[in-house]
Amino acid sequence: MNSQRIPLIAGNWKMHKTIAEAEAYIQALLPKVSSCEGVEVAICAPFTALQALVDSTRGSRVEIFAQTMHAGDSGPFTGEISAPMLSEIDVFGVVLGHSERREFYGESDHALRAKVPAALAAGLMPILCIGETEAEHGDGDTQRKLRHQIQEGLGDVADEQLGDVVIAYEPIWAIGTGKVATPDQAQDICGFVRALVADRDPQQAERTRVLYGGSVKPDNAVALMSLPDVDGALVGGASLEADTLAAIIDAAGAG
Ligand code: 13P
Repeated sequence: MNSQRIPLIAGNWKMHKTIAEAEAYIQALLPKVSSCEGVEVAICAPFTALQALVDSTRGSRVEIFAQTMHAGDSGPFTGEISAPMLSEIDVFGVVLGHSERREFYGESDHALRAKVPAALAAGLMPILCIGETEAEHGDGDTQRKLRHQIQEGLGDVADEQLGDVVIAYEPIWAIGTGKVATPDQAQDICGFVRALVADRDPQQAERTRVLYGGSVKPDNAVALMSLPDVDGALVGGASLEADTLAAIIDAAGAG
């Protein structure tokens, strides 16, 4: 982590928590994070809980994110939600291109090329997720894959807005598996991701926050969060309990 960039710890709940469960969680989390200066905290929640969470976190340090959105403002896309619909209810940002969206719902790099600028245009902070499969990792294909994902995902973002996009490096082999990247691996790849942004604009690359995601837990967070090119974490399973997310937030504050 670098002093120029405020670390971001984002809990991605995925398809977990009803509105009632979300409310109970937030009431448990808020007192634990009220004093963690210098760390930005985000909860990425199911659509149905967004409005309640926005209301109950107003004035706190917790930001509420959606987990996906459509690139268009409106249209005949049954079941989809657009960026203006999210910003209308004061949602702060949106996760784009999570590997589960790519794998199970056919989200493509082409679609993400439109979604990232659409989120920015609506005033939402995008967290663009990238990552390689276990096979790509084994074949030494990680850099090629990530280069392509970054070129596409950021392809239609203006240079001066590159630093407004958060990039989450989530190796697919580490998601929900308990296999976490080593600190060396995480630093190598997050540094590589920043270098890819620097190819477009070196100044913006210094502003860009690069998160690590994949089996982040309180006991591995300190080592990961102290790496120079890791500016926070996207946390799945360990974000489902307020206590464990709070412990990871504390680790980021210490890093
Ligand atoms: P886990 O932390 O459960 O491995 O999930 C990571 C993830 O996919 C966050 O978006």
